[in-house]
Amino acid sequence: MKNKNKLLLILLAVFIGLQFFRPKGIDHGTKAPDLANVPKQVNAILRSSCFDCHSSEVNLRWYDKITPANFLVASHIRDGRKALDFSKWASWPKAQQNTIIYYSINKILSGEMPIPSYAAVHSYAKLNQSEINILKNYALTLSPRKIADSAQISSAEKQYNEWINGTLKHSSVKPSPNGLPYIPDYRNWKAISTTDRFDNGTMRIIFGNEIAVKAIQEKQTNPWPDGTVFAKTAWKQQMKKDGSIGAGEFLQVEFMVKDAKKYAETKGWGWGRWKGNDLKPYGESTDFDKECIECHKPMENQDHVFTSPLYLISQLKKIQK
Ligand code: HEC
Ligand code: HEC
Repeated sequence: MKNKNKLLLILLAVFIGLQFFRPKGIDHGTKAPDLANVPKQVNAILRSSCFDCHSSEVNLRWYDKITPANFLVASHIRDGRKALDFSKWASWPKAQQNTIIYYSINKILSGEMPIPSYAAVHSYAKLNQSEINILKNYALTLSPRKIADSAQISSAEKQYNEWINGTLKHSSVKPSPNGLPYIPDYRNWKAISTTDRFDNGTMRIIFGNEIAVKAIQEKQTNPWPDGTVFAKTAWKQQMKKDGSIGAGEFLQVEFMVKDAKKYAETKGWGWGRWKGNDLKPYGESTDFDKECIECHKPMENQDHVFTSPLYLISQLKKIQK
């Protein structure tokens, strides 16, 4: 036999042998119910693009059942279901459903979902622009933007100008229950990110102090250096007659102050939130910050920080390619 044929035979034998190794069975017997109270088209799009990994049903193609591809697909499905299971839709309160829709669209727009390597092989999972628009338009109906009246606009403008000019009196602002003092100077820092929560009608701007900005420039952001401070502000969105959207009522500002030693017990960060125009400290007890840490936990491996400007830029480049 020629060497080339021998090699092919060996490869074939190995391949057949491999087929005896299979991932632990995943349950894909249960058909997931349609998403209730959601337009038909939205339901159909999420079903075809996301349910393979995010519901109790799975549509394995023949090529998904071949070792080693099946291991990869099974792990995607297992992790995907753990992260988000649309079969449980009906059990979620409406606000949670809205947040999931918002969060899902963000994952789609950032190119993270459906997992690109999966969508490359399963073309039905890919979303085209018109499908993305259908999802976005649906999300917009969840928090319809009402046109503000002139009293609302002038009150918000007054508030915003006071904020910009720093004319609000801050001497009376009390520290957070855990002792973190309020930092009025954040208005002069650099804005490093913004998020538009169209699901609940707020806009947020995240500011970083000089140390944070330097760390970003030098790509030393995991962990962030001691002295880093982030301020996240939230405003209600306000729509004018011409459809333009700006900052309405000031809702709150939150701080994260990095000091690995001093704040060792709270993951290396000092946490504080001040609410409303009179900057009332948030929290009933000294350990109110447990709530902050709990929600920032998914970012454990990024020093508990969600905002990652560098990552976003590289992600954008990937999509534009
Ligand atoms: C091939 C399987 C697969 C497909 C298809 C897929 N996902 Fe995912 N998804 C995953 C996995 C795996 C994770 C968990 C990844 C992680 O935590 O890093 C995940 C995580 C997510 C999360 C984050 C959940 C959380 O709380 O962390 C969202 C939101 C999400 N997917 C939305 C979608 C949407 C919307 C679609 C359809 C457009 C989709 N996914 C399609 C596998 C998939
Ligand atoms: C419901 C979940 C949740 C809770 C609770 C929460 N955060 Fe956050 N936080 C986020 C998310 C998500 C972001 C990313 C920015 C965005 O999407 O608005 C963020 C961002 C931030 C940022 C900007 C830096 C970063 O990580 O991106 C600060 C500062 C911050 N939060 C402070 C706090 C403080 C202080 C508390 C507690 C009083 C708190 N957060 C509680 C979800 C939460």
